[in-house]
Amino acid sequence: MVVYSHLLMHHAFFMRRCLTLAEEGRGKVGNGAFVGAVLVRDGDIIAEGVHRGFGLLHAERDLLEQFSGSIEPTDTLYVNLEPCCHMGKTPPCTEIILKRGVKHLVYGLRDPDRRVSGQGIEFLRLNGVEVIGPVLRDECAWMNRGFISVREKGRPWITLKSARAADGSIAHPDGSPKRITSKEQDAWSHEFLRAKHDAILVGVNTIIKDDPSLTVRSINVPVQPWRIVFDPHARTPLHASIIKKNPERTILVVDAALDLSCTEPYLEREIHIWRIPCIQNMFDFHALFQGCITSQENFCGITSILVEGGERTWHPFWSHHHVDMDVLLPGSS
Ligand SMILES: NC(=O)c1ccc[n+]([C@@H]2O[C@H](COP(=O)([O-])OP(=O)(O)OC[C@H]3O[C@@H](n4cnc5c(N)ncnc54)[C@H](OP(=O)(O)O)[C@@H]3O)[C@@H](O)[C@H]2O)c1
Repeated sequence: MVVYSHLLMHHAFFMRRCLTLAEEGRGKVGNGAFVGAVLVRDGDIIAEGVHRGFGLLHAERDLLEQFSGSIEPTDTLYVNLEPCCHMGKTPPCTEIILKRGVKHLVYGLRDPDRRVSGQGIEFLRLNGVEVIGPVLRDECAWMNRGFISVREKGRPWITLKSARAADGSIAHPDGSPKRITSKEQDAWSHEFLRAKHDAILVGVNTIIKDDPSLTVRSINVPVQPWRIVFDPHARTPLHASIIKKNPERTILVVDAALDLSCTEPYLEREIHIWRIPCIQNMFDFHALFQGCITSQENFCGITSILVEGGERTWHPFWSHHHVDMDVLLPGSS
């Protein structure tokens, strides 16, 4: 029993390193997964790999292609997601694992993708590899909650965030912005909410009334999240911050029936326009989510959205049961 728990701690230690490495893919892997891999010999990490970006090598292949030494029979490969066994944008990782002679593999999470889903583990075991896992399953699943949501629900992970004053209000009665959160709460939500989602979404009234930047400012991030505005009638002012600064990261979602001429000024400013059909004045969520998770031209797909409001924007997410996590920041006054 003592030996067993000692081994688990050992596996957890190296799996945590995989998760730290996997973070390097934040904002770059599009609709793919965050994955890191380490090769361990006699208790030391001798090589590391990362899934660095959309369409790039998977972490275990990144590691094995870079590592030029020979693999010893006692070496163990750790990876936070089950190795793939199908031909995708890159060849199957199971192939290179066998080819390089890896004999022991520890994984964190079974891949929810139907093309893998346990078959990578099975294939390796049938070919003589000792496969151990899942290790730190919950932490691995949390890191890839967006990737899992896309595979299992066909939509991005959705977090709703709202700030309410002690009287329950979210703005002044005339709709003008009200300071509700403290500097500490803002810093926390930048680091743990904005920086951990692929996109931040608001309704057009929030743009008109508050003119937010919708960026991560309390910490450095390699890539700023996408900014999505629900704006069926293209009412976003051209002088809005999200239009003037980094317009190439802004997506205006407009009614598919809107006259094409209404979106020309935005297109001239490099704004992305998504034309989504409206049903009873509400965007069709199915069409919207398909747009989010599908890669095209200069868009690699998104797997998580932070919905920041206002009230009219939050409501349909609730009524259609499209909320995975609800964060309420209480104001002190
Ligand atoms: N305390 C907080 O956490 C917080 C956060 C954000 C905003 N706010 C405050 O909230 C207020 C704005 O809230 P609000 O409820 O008036 O407006 P909002 O949610 O910012 O924008 C609502 C508008 O967005 C469009 N829209 C939203 N969801 C849609 C959907 N599913 N389908 C189609 N169109 C959709 C519609 O535009 P059309 O009207 O063109 O159809 C709708 O009228 C501001 O005063 C702001 O300061 C507070």
